[in-house]
Amino acid sequence: MNDEQTTHFGYQTVREEEKAGRVRGVFTSVASRYDVMNDVMSVGIHRLWKDAMMDWLAPRPGQKLLDVAGGTGDVSFRFLARAGRGHATVCDLTEPMLVEGRKRAEAERLEDSLDWVVGDAMALPFPNNSFDVYTISFGIRNVTRPQKALDEAYRVLRPGGRLMVLEFSQIPNDLMQRAYDLYSFNVIPAMGQLIANDRDSYQYLVESIRRFPDQETFLGMVEAAGFEQAKYRNLSMGIACLHSGWKL
Ligand SMILES: C[S@@+](CC[C@H](N)C(=O)[O-])C[C@H]1O[C@@H](n2cnc3c(N)ncnc32)[C@H](O)[C@@H]1O
Repeated sequence: MNDEQTTHFGYQTVREEEKAGRVRGVFTSVASRYDVMNDVMSVGIHRLWKDAMMDWLAPRPGQKLLDVAGGTGDVSFRFLARAGRGHATVCDLTEPMLVEGRKRAEAERLEDSLDWVVGDAMALPFPNNSFDVYTISFGIRNVTRPQKALDEAYRVLRPGGRLMVLEFSQIPNDLMQRAYDLYSFNVIPAMGQLIANDRDSYQYLVESIRRFPDQETFLGMVEAAGFEQAKYRNLSMGIACLHSGWKL
């Protein structure tokens, strides 16, 4: 295989054009159990991380959010609850994830505040300068070319708009990182097998986390896309991380 045309799918090397299909396969397979599994695998901690994301983002009434790789819309629901009044567009590659989210929107009578759009983070189906806020939560790690997704985020945000990325990251302490690896590589795929009868999807999850750039490298990518005042905050010692930037 020619190096320029390959990428990572967890620890496997695959052709670039193959990755999106494989990622879609993973999330199609977990869609109906996604929200429950999120709580089980992280022992509910993903909720605290998303709360921290909302604290830093501080949504304001009337803002228009684009939530890319938004899946079942978890971040969008939180954004709307904090903003009080606003609109969220959830964009995702995997339609079955959006279908689950739409069911929740109907149950919560929020249909009018949300749109659900199938689309790729690397080629967003939206015009330039059209959103106040762009979020991507536990999504950019799955994108074939994360830099392209950041460039697209910059394009669709209006001047004055805000980018916020929530993603797994690297623990800056070797001993702790090894303990965490021991947990994630042994426990997470086994739990995926036990609860969802799907070891492979959760094996991909832990491998893709270890492959993702560390905090400083990703900060450089946010800046390279054109964002200003780019900063990050570690969550749970760096297990996850928030990156923020502004289109000024
Ligand atoms: C782990 S889920 C995150 C869902 C949600 N943002 C959350 O935090 O709960 C990752 C999502 O990224 C989506 N995804 C992966 N690659 C994508 C891409 N290139 N463009 C858009 N969505 C993508 C998947 O379909 C999946 O729904």
